[in-house]
Amino acid sequence: MGRSHFNISQGHELRLEYDYYRDKCPDAEKTVRSKMAQLYSQDKQVPANLLRLFFHDCFIMGCDASVFLDDSNGNESHPIERQAIPSQTLKGFDKINLIKEELEEACPGMVSCADALALATRDGILLHSNVCAMKEQAGGPYYPVFTGRRDSIRSYFQEATAEIPGPDDDLNKILHLFSLRGFSPRETVSLIGAHNIGKISCQFIRNRLYDFSGTGQPDPTMSDDFLVEMRVLCGDGNQTSLHGSPAPASAPAPMRSSGMRESTLGMNYYQRLSTSISSGAGFDAHYYQNLLRGRGLLHADQQLMAEEKTAKLVWAYASDCGTAYRTDFARVMLKMSNLGVLSGSQGQGSSYLGNHLMTVLYIATCIMLYRGTIVINFQRIRIFW
Ligand code: HEM
Repeated sequence: MGRSHFNISQGHELRLEYDYYRDKCPDAEKTVRSKMAQLYSQDKQVPANLLRLFFHDCFIMGCDASVFLDDSNGNESHPIERQAIPSQTLKGFDKINLIKEELEEACPGMVSCADALALATRDGILLHSNVCAMKEQAGGPYYPVFTGRRDSIRSYFQEATAEIPGPDDDLNKILHLFSLRGFSPRETVSLIGAHNIGKISCQFIRNRLYDFSGTGQPDPTMSDDFLVEMRVLCGDGNQTSLHGSPAPASAPAPMRSSGMRESTLGMNYYQRLSTSISSGAGFDAHYYQNLLRGRGLLHADQQLMAEEKTAKLVWAYASDCGTAYRTDFARVMLKMSNLGVLSGSQGQGSSYLGNHLMTVLYIATCIMLYRGTIVINFQRIRIFW
C-alpha cells in the first residue's frame, strides 16, 4: 500500500475516545461500515483477512498501522513488517486501501489508517455470518471501538519476526508472548478463537504430518483420524507451491469446496466432516469443540489443550453455542484494539473516555444499530473506565 493513503503523525501521548471523528469527519464510521458491507458482499473472506491483519498490527508495538508501512525508501536491505515470516501471508491490504480511499474522499487527511483498520475489523466481525445450530445469531460479536489512533512512521520487522507466535509454538511460548501484551491465559484462549473463521494453508500444517519438528513421528497431539485426513488433504509437500499442494481428487468434497483455494483449508472445513458438530463457520464454539477432539489445525491451536489451565477454558467455551466465548472474545478484542495507543504500558486502563454521557449515547446508538448482537456486558466495560 502506498504511503499516500496514510495519515502519518507521531503520537506520543494518545488518548482514545468514542466517536473521535464526530466533528472532524462525522460520516467516518458510517463510511467504513458501508464499504465493509460492500466488500463483504463481494468476498466473504474479508472479515478473516482483516481480523488477522489487525492482530498482527496490534501485537507489534500496538494498533498503529505499522504493518502497512514501507519505510524502507527503496532500500532492500531494510526489511519491513510485512516481510517478517509470520506476516508474509497476511491478506486484506487492498481492502483497507479501498476503505481508506473512501475516507480520503469524504475527509482528506482526517482518519488514520489504524482507526480505519480497527473499525473495519470490528464491522467485519459483525458482518460475518454465523448461523449456530442451537441459536440463531446475526453475526459475530459486537464491541465498541474507540478512535483517535495515529499511524506509526516506523515498521518493526525484527519485532514482528520474533514476537508474533508461530504455528508450531508450544503453550508456554504462546502464553508468554500474549502476557507481554497484558493478556491473561483466559484472554489468550478467547483471542485465538479468532481461528473460528478464515482459511489456513497446508504449509503451516505439513510439519505435523510425518516428521514433527525432526522427531521422525507425526505430531502426537493430533487425533489419528484427523492425521489421516490431513495427510490426504495436504500431502507431503513434494509438489508444493508456496501455498501447498492441491487437494487430491480423492479428498472428501467438503475439503474441495468451491470458493476455497484448493491448498487452503477453511478453519471450519473439518467440522463438516463430523456429524456431531453442525455449527456454521462463524463465531461460535466449533473451534473449541474441535480442540477437544484433537482436531486443531495448527500445533499452536491444539496446544490450548496441553495444560489444565487452558484446557479448562477450552471446555468452557466448547460447552455452549458460543455464548461465553463470544462475550469474552468481544471483551478481549476491545482490549486488543487499545493496545499500545497510550504512552504508558499496556493494561493501565487503555483509554480515555472524555465524556461519559457521550459514551452512553454512543452505546445506545450502537444497540439500536446492531440490535440482538450486543454481547458486551456493560459492567465489564467499566473495567476499562
Ligand atoms: C498462537 C497464536 C496464533 C498463531 C500461531 C496463529 C497462526 C496463524 C496461521 C499460521 C494462520 C494461517 C495463515 C495462512 O494460511 O496464510 C492464521 C490464520 C488466521 N489467524 Fe492466526 N494465529 C494466532 C493467533 C491469532 C489471533 C490472536 C488472531 C486474531 C485475534 C488470529 C486470526 C487469524 C485469522 C482470522 C486467520 C485466517 C486469516 C485468513 O483467512 O485470511 N490468529 N493464524
